[in-house]
Amino acid sequence: MLRRPAVLVLLGLIVSCGANVAAPVVNISLDEAPELRWAPLLKVFDINYLEKAAAEVIDTTVPKWVHHAVAPVVMALEKYIPQPYAGEIRGMASHFGASLSDIIILNFAYEISAFCTSIVAQDTKGQVYHGRNLDYPHDVLRNLTVDLIFLKNGEVAYRGTSFAGYVGLWTGQSPNKFTVSGDQRGKDHWYDWWKNVVSAFLLKRSPVSWLVRETLEGAENFQDAVMRLSKIPIITGVYYIVGGVRAGEGAVITRDRKGPADIWPLDTLNGGWYRVETNFDHWLPPPARDHRREAANKALNATGQDHINMDTLYQVLSLYPVCNGITVYTTTMSAATPEKYNTVVRAQGCRRTE
Ligand SMILES: *[C@@H]1O[C@H](CO)[C@@H](O)[C@H](O)[C@H]1NC(C)=O
Ligand SMILES: *[C@@H]1O[C@H](CO)[C@@H](O)[C@H](O)[C@H]1NC(C)=O
Ligand SMILES: *[C@@H]1O[C@H](CO)[C@@H](O)[C@H](O)[C@H]1NC(C)=O
Repeated sequence: MLRRPAVLVLLGLIVSCGANVAAPVVNISLDEAPELRWAPLLKVFDINYLEKAAAEVIDTTVPKWVHHAVAPVVMALEKYIPQPYAGEIRGMASHFGASLSDIIILNFAYEISAFCTSIVAQDTKGQVYHGRNLDYPHDVLRNLTVDLIFLKNGEVAYRGTSFAGYVGLWTGQSPNKFTVSGDQRGKDHWYDWWKNVVSAFLLKRSPVSWLVRETLEGAENFQDAVMRLSKIPIITGVYYIVGGVRAGEGAVITRDRKGPADIWPLDTLNGGWYRVETNFDHWLPPPARDHRREAANKALNATGQDHINMDTLYQVLSLYPVCNGITVYTTTMSAATPEKYNTVVRAQGCRRTE
């Protein structure tokens, strides 16, 4: 059971989050061919449900006439998708019994409209903690959330949290090196989504969730991860939040398509022992109706640097409206203790209770 710190009870902000359940864990072996490596998903997910869920996400994200119009275009562009994603997406379509164009559309549909809160924080001993809520207005994603362990030569190369059918990562951990989460920056529309597809395929820019995966796979350490996540061109703006294994290793990177707009590191000597990022540039006030940033700051202040740990971080991420009606999952992680990586699915989201 998780303890509820007295300070948070005093704030009167504890909420009931309905039934929360651990995300299923699936091993994906990178030693398998890209076309075959996602087959283990079928041990955990019902294929009929996957088909229905994929159709629902597409129907609510892409207007029907666009869906019909783009299908042949998407197929013509398929040859531009780089490996291993091309093979993985092709494999996913065959495992799911879905059309290839739909799985491609699905992988790009998720690139937009993810609202989130990410927190990186350091305790007084120098241990770095990283947590994130992923908010997305589709109930169906709660049933598709999965923790993935990517194995290479039988050993854990990295892990992350995703949705069945999707090959990118918005949340992940390279063990004993660093952790990453991505939060959407700016509001995209379906016509931007289309621009993103073209820019990914023809200009060879990376979808933001593919860059997370490539960084988890290739970066040597926290500093290398921050460099890659700052500089490599991507298809749309985003916030990357990164945590490391040593004191001071925590930062929020605000990304433009071509490079960094801002890097906001921890600054513990001057009181900056945590950083909260939602979906707005940290140097600007958030919209008046969005209280997530303020609520998280207040709860972290009330918790205090000497009481921050995996449990209290989870509690902060459980407070309304940091956790809200469209929160799909909460992940807490710390690269120095990789076995503690944990994802909780918010089966009914969170509502305020007094
Ligand atoms: C996943 O792989 C790890 C490491 O090889 C192993 O210990 C674990 O049992 C595997 N889990 C599943 C569900 O196959
Ligand atoms: C998710 O799965 C549960 C249990 O199988 C089911 O009752 C529920 O309707 C599903 N939710 C959605 C949105 O499909
Ligand atoms: C949290 O504490 C910092 C440092 O004392 C302060 O600047 C900030 O205003 C506080 N935020 C909230 C929301 O209480």
